[in-house]
Amino acid sequence: MQDSIFDQYIKKRTPIIKNKKILQNTYLPEQLPHRAGQIDKIASIVSIALEGDRPSNIMVYGKTGTGKTAVLNFIGKELEKADSRRERCGYVYVNCEVVDTPYGILYNIGNQITVESDNKIPFTGWSFEKVYSNLVKQIDDTDKVFVVVLDEIDRMVSKKGDDIFYYLAKINENLKRSKVSLVGISNDMKFLEFLEPKARSRLGGESLIFPPYTADELEDILKSRAEIAFDNDTLDGGVISYCASVAARVDGDARVALDLLRTAADTAERNGDSRVTIAHVKSAKNSIEFDAVSEGIRTLSSQSKIVLMSITKNVEADNPRMTTGDVYNKYKEICDVLDIKPLTQRRVTDLISELDMMGIINASVRSFGRAGRTKEIELAAPKENIMILRDDPMFKDFEYSKSPRQMKLM
Ligand SMILES: Nc1ncnc2c1ncn2[C@@H]1O[C@H](COP(=O)(O)OP(=O)(O)O)[C@@H](O)[C@H]1O
Ligand SMILES: [Mg+2]
Repeated sequence: MQDSIFDQYIKKRTPIIKNKKILQNTYLPEQLPHRAGQIDKIASIVSIALEGDRPSNIMVYGKTGTGKTAVLNFIGKELEKADSRRERCGYVYVNCEVVDTPYGILYNIGNQITVESDNKIPFTGWSFEKVYSNLVKQIDDTDKVFVVVLDEIDRMVSKKGDDIFYYLAKINENLKRSKVSLVGISNDMKFLEFLEPKARSRLGGESLIFPPYTADELEDILKSRAEIAFDNDTLDGGVISYCASVAARVDGDARVALDLLRTAADTAERNGDSRVTIAHVKSAKNSIEFDAVSEGIRTLSSQSKIVLMSITKNVEADNPRMTTGDVYNKYKEICDVLDIKPLTQRRVTDLISELDMMGIINASVRSFGRAGRTKEIELAAPKENIMILRDDPMFKDFEYSKSPRQMKLM
């Protein structure tokens, strides 16, 4: 007798991953191999919070997947453990990519500190000044030392939120009893350069770099994860080192390594295979590469899509390495055809930098003697992947129409 129409499908799947959570990026492992140096350094700075003193601010730099978030959350857990008896400090974590407005950041910090619902900052509606002074009061009332981690801090600035860092960095001047120490995490080494000088000098403190992992280091990281996620003998020999070597080539990114292993194991499960093989990893590699780029492109703003389209049009017109001016000319033509008001060249230059940061294009500054400096721009991701732009509804009619200027040329 059949209990459910789904039974037959469920039984067909042989679960080979013991615990899926362990292979996810949000899982915080008990041990973080190859980050002992960084953990020591941060712990030695932060430790004085346990004595009620204010640690210096810290800036942490490193490309994605170098363990920055994991290390700081590990430190936060340890700090809370060490402080559980005396309750002298607090750990607050905010991801500025998710919480991406100055108001949102203050709201988020406030609500991690205060539990009583009477004092809570409302989700929206107050002025920035009111939220700020309310937060100052809440922090001071607790009489504690807070370590406030602002993760992905560089994403916030590219959305023009500089002064939030200025306000947070000078918050100690407004506190009488409590103290706040800031840890900024940035994927971009140039983060401080982009800040207003007044915020920069206040945020400054210790800085720490997380280098990309080598293939061997990634192998250790994957092994320790795989030991708890799989039964013995589920992974074919070579699977882990293959994942590690692929990820080492992608900027030593541990996230890529884990994504590969997880996707490969998922594929094996779905196929009803009992072991994960290198073939599964290879197919995972193809789907992940495609996904990352296409997802990035799909979620671009309309203006950025037009900028990217302008770059691909230049490539198609036998101009694989172009200047900002080349992009801007094409950009104006496309805006013309789509009947969209073009942005200034300066704004388009900003959008080009964003595409560069996303890894979709490469833009490097070149000097052309007396002609001055300009950017040299080329596609970074494979053109086939970028071509999903063609399917975007906003360009539906574009391929078939020609701008007046192009017609004249023909
Ligand atoms: N040294 C390490 N040991 C174990 N897992 C790690 C280590 N470094 C990174 N990871 C894992 O890799 C993934 C990406 O790390 P994360 O801390 O999010 O990187 P970042 O914040 O630098 O982008 C997470 O799942 C994390 O648990
Ligand atoms: Mg992170």
